Amino acid sequence: MSTSHDNDIRSWLDEAVAQMEPRLIEIRRDLHAHPELAFEEVRTSGVVAAELARLGIEHRTGVGRTGVVGTIRGARPGPTVAIRADMDALPITERTGLPFASKEEGKMHACGHDLHTVTLLGIGAVLHRMRDRLSGDVRLIFQPAEEAIGGAREMIAEGAMDGVDMALSLHNRPEIPVGRFGIVHGAANSASDSFDITVHGKSGHGARPYAAVDPIVAAAQLVGQLQTIVSREVRALDSCVVTVGSIHAGEARNVIPDRCELKGTVRTRQPEARDAAEEGIRRICEGISAGLRVRCDLVYRRGTPPVMNEEGMLQRTVDAIHAQIGDVADEYEPSLGGEDFALMAAMVPAFRLLVGSSQPGRSDKVHSSDYEPDERCIGYGVRALARTVADILA
Ligand code: NI
Repeated sequence: MSTSHDNDIRSWLDEAVAQMEPRLIEIRRDLHAHPELAFEEVRTSGVVAAELARLGIEHRTGVGRTGVVGTIRGARPGPTVAIRADMDALPITERTGLPFASKEEGKMHACGHDLHTVTLLGIGAVLHRMRDRLSGDVRLIFQPAEEAIGGAREMIAEGAMDGVDMALSLHNRPEIPVGRFGIVHGAANSASDSFDITVHGKSGHGARPYAAVDPIVAAAQLVGQLQTIVSREVRALDSCVVTVGSIHAGEARNVIPDRCELKGTVRTRQPEARDAAEEGIRRICEGISAGLRVRCDLVYRRGTPPVMNEEGMLQRTVDAIHAQIGDVADEYEPSLGGEDFALMAAMVPAFRLLVGSSQPGRSDKVHSSDYEPDERCIGYGVRALARTVADILA
């Protein structure tokens, strides 16, 4: 692409985004005030569909229950690039005191998925206007239920990724200043697996433990031993977290209960660590059972794999950001959170961009009741990813 052509796209895109930004912010505030939880995004997907209709973008609703898929057809044939945004909120009561704070008790866009939804609307709006110069198609994937994990799987099952050749996604990141971006090479976040363990003992009088089998003492040892997977088993250079987040047993101080129930999560970034953690939990359950006369019933569930950022897609995005905005993309540390865009990223070369959203003096934590991202991250996200797609389909 010649320099003049390059400048041409840059100023056109900057201008287009500057014009639409107030509207995107208005829609974002409306979505923010009316958050919906996983697979309940009926109002949200209605707002998305209405905006796509207003823009003249062909779309399908009800994909994966409450998902929406938009299609922009380029003037010439070429690959199909998908961009995915998640739409769901979290079961948190908002405490920001903002004029557009959630009107729903116990529901809040505390992870900024409202920002992602309107960023994708903005990307769709500009690429639709640029369709005469695109060689290939753009697929806009508005996904439900990222937090509960399940939306991506259902949308894929209903064809959202059919014919897609490459995929992009984004997440706001309040640890990064607004106007800057974060890139992670390789596994960008973690596999998110879960386990339930029921330790079966034998109930008895608290004064006569020798006549019972104490599941609480066994569970206490189990919790301690599980940590040795991280400290003594997984390679120290790899990532592994084993967290027991729930443990329940007993009612009375002088009664040994018949069982203890534990629930936990396992986060890993490397396949070897993922296998080692599962294998270790199974073995430790068997060891505790044999050693302490209890029976540990384990249910282990593999959740989503890590999002694998493909180096080619990463580089194309970084180059586009450089051309459109400047030298504002920095390497960033991987996260130990889960993200079901991973299922889409496992199908085609993919990249998930971190968009800086920090607002000085405001809470910088997603999933907190006072999270206040800087809304300017919407415009930056639109410019970065619309330019990336425009360059890929040039
Ligand atoms: Ni999120």
